[in-house]
Amino acid sequence: MKVLIVFAHPEPKSFNGALLEAAVETLSAGGHDVQVSDLYKLHFASGTTRSDFTTVADPDYLKYQIEEAKASTENGFATDIAEQQRRVVWCDHLILLYPLYWFHLPGILKGWVDRVMAAGFAYGGGKWYETAPLYGRRALLAFTMGAPQDRWADDTLFGPLDGILNPIRYGILNFCGFEALEPFVVYAPARITDDARRAYLDRWRERLLGLDRETPLPFRRAADFGAGRYRGAGS
Ligand SMILES: Cc1cc2nc3c(=O)[nH]c(=O)nc-3n(C[C@H](O)[C@H](O)[C@H](O)COP(=O)(O)O)c2cc1C
Repeated sequence: MKVLIVFAHPEPKSFNGALLEAAVETLSAGGHDVQVSDLYKLHFASGTTRSDFTTVADPDYLKYQIEEAKASTENGFATDIAEQQRRVVWCDHLILLYPLYWFHLPGILKGWVDRVMAAGFAYGGGKWYETAPLYGRRALLAFTMGAPQDRWADDTLFGPLDGILNPIRYGILNFCGFEALEPFVVYAPARITDDARRAYLDRWRERLLGLDRETPLPFRRAADFGAGRYRGAGS
């Protein structure tokens, strides 16, 4: 496997840091190629601005997707974005490793998605879902959270976990052509025993080595909804 891990935790000594270390060790020892994009270490910018491009479609009005589409055809992305795009193209498995923030991706990781998965690069020109340029790759959401598992039952305060994951699964991963694997979720790592944390790490290592043999979650195909072509701005 060629695995790109996009890591979005500011503290290397955190449980996220332990998951990252275990992943790099396990995958490398298993003969797989691993690249890590450590977003905090990179000081990766999360806002979408004109300085994301060296090309200019319209100097008077910043329509981000139009600039992305132009940059895609003219090699006009800023170097930090272009480097991440090269890594995404390189990988066959993408792992997003992060702590849950406000039921979602942390801002720095959401910014990575906003800036890297650009129109013209990841979708557009009529292409999305099963026709997206990156189609055929797989993605795994691996995340920790403060809450215990029982908060996410149907009739509890937070409701089913799928409710917060579906926007990422369908709106980012499938949209850009990635098949989503069953997420790896660590509940309340700060409130469990060392043994329980070790058990999570053991399960994590085991899962990583079999990622390419897993059956992905059902993929949302645009054609099944009578929506064959992407018709948004920048296409
Ligand atoms: C800004 C922010 C938002 C957070 N939002 C959530 C949340 O929505 N749900 C939750 O269960 N925990 C939330 N947390 C807690 C973290 O997810 C939790 O501390 C982390 O996953 C623990 O992993 P670590 O030990 O590797 O840091 C939040 C923490 C921060 C700093």
